[in-house]
Amino acid sequence: MTGEVHEVVLRTKGLVKRFGSITAVDGLDLEVRRGEVVGLLGPNGAGKSTTIGMVLGLITPTAGTAEVLGRDIRVRREDALAGVGAMLEVTSFYPYLSGRDNLAAVALLRGGGALARVDPLLARLGLAQRGGSKFRTYSLGMRQRLGIASTLLADPALVILDEPANGLDPAGQREIRELIRELAGENRGVLLASHLLHEVEQVCDRVLVIKKGKLIASGTIAEVTRGGGNYFEIVVDDKPRAAEILRGLGIKEIRETPTGLDVVADPTRGGEINRALASAGLYASAIVPRASSLEDVFMELTEPESPSASPVS
Ligand SMILES: Nc1ncnc2c1ncn2[C@@H]1O[C@H](COP(=O)(O)OP(=O)(O)OP(=O)(O)O)[C@@H](O)[C@H]1O
Ligand SMILES: [Mg+2]
Repeated sequence: MTGEVHEVVLRTKGLVKRFGSITAVDGLDLEVRRGEVVGLLGPNGAGKSTTIGMVLGLITPTAGTAEVLGRDIRVRREDALAGVGAMLEVTSFYPYLSGRDNLAAVALLRGGGALARVDPLLARLGLAQRGGSKFRTYSLGMRQRLGIASTLLADPALVILDEPANGLDPAGQREIRELIRELAGENRGVLLASHLLHEVEQVCDRVLVIKKGKLIASGTIAEVTRGGGNYFEIVVDDKPRAAEILRGLGIKEIRETPTGLDVVADPTRGGEINRALASAGLYASAIVPRASSLEDVFMELTEPESPSASPVS
């Protein structure tokens, strides 16, 4: 049954890609829903880009299916891709055209009101001032932002970003994180392939960890890090009142400490906690997420098989 409103914007089933004897993607099932940011993690060569290539109809799967907005990418490629904006590892723009003209060129291909979005998107990505400058004069950060702007021209339900914060300075990375959260807030689904685990940890609702083309772990950050010790250390004066507010957010495990409270909550909820406390007039002097980091777990999950300790003969 295909409903008109597609909550699931991307679904792959049993996706497989073999290149000769290499199995790059090995029976991958994944789903991205509207309003969520899903991280696609895995070491080099895990099959992330190959997966994205199949989702975009650029690589033909050996087996399995990929559906965007309920449309099979191989059967209804154009319809399916009309709802997708993607920024791949190498997004090419014309060096001698301005940023604005580059976006306009993409917009013309996409049609459907995309041209009218060029200027608002330049402004949104902080490129309004430099929209008229040639692309070749853009800094790496500006290039990345133009790439992201181009993904939004079609007002997509699914946004796919392959390493969007690549090469950005910390301020630039933060801007991108905020933007990604905004995209989810606009009811789009976001698939984010990234090596920046710290970024993934802060921005994703769920992560999928793949290794040699197979899904080896998935779930919320808290689940993947086994919920083991994911908590916030909150330094605040009025502990009873703070505890009451946190209970109002559905947080159950709250423990008093000499300086405030330790509360068990998903690491992505720091902003929400901060906002709730502040709007009740309680200004925490610190809200520190404490956890076994995603990086710890990632290293553990994806570390190469220990080199066989073959005896030296
Ligand atoms: N066109 C191709 N021909 C042969 N092998 C390929 C091809 N494309 C990818 N591969 C192989 O498939 C595997 C998965 O590659 P893929 O690029 O999908 O990994 P990735 O997870 O994106 O890695 P990275 O983190 O380095 O970007 C690798 O072993 C790679 O060498
Ligand atoms: Mg890749």
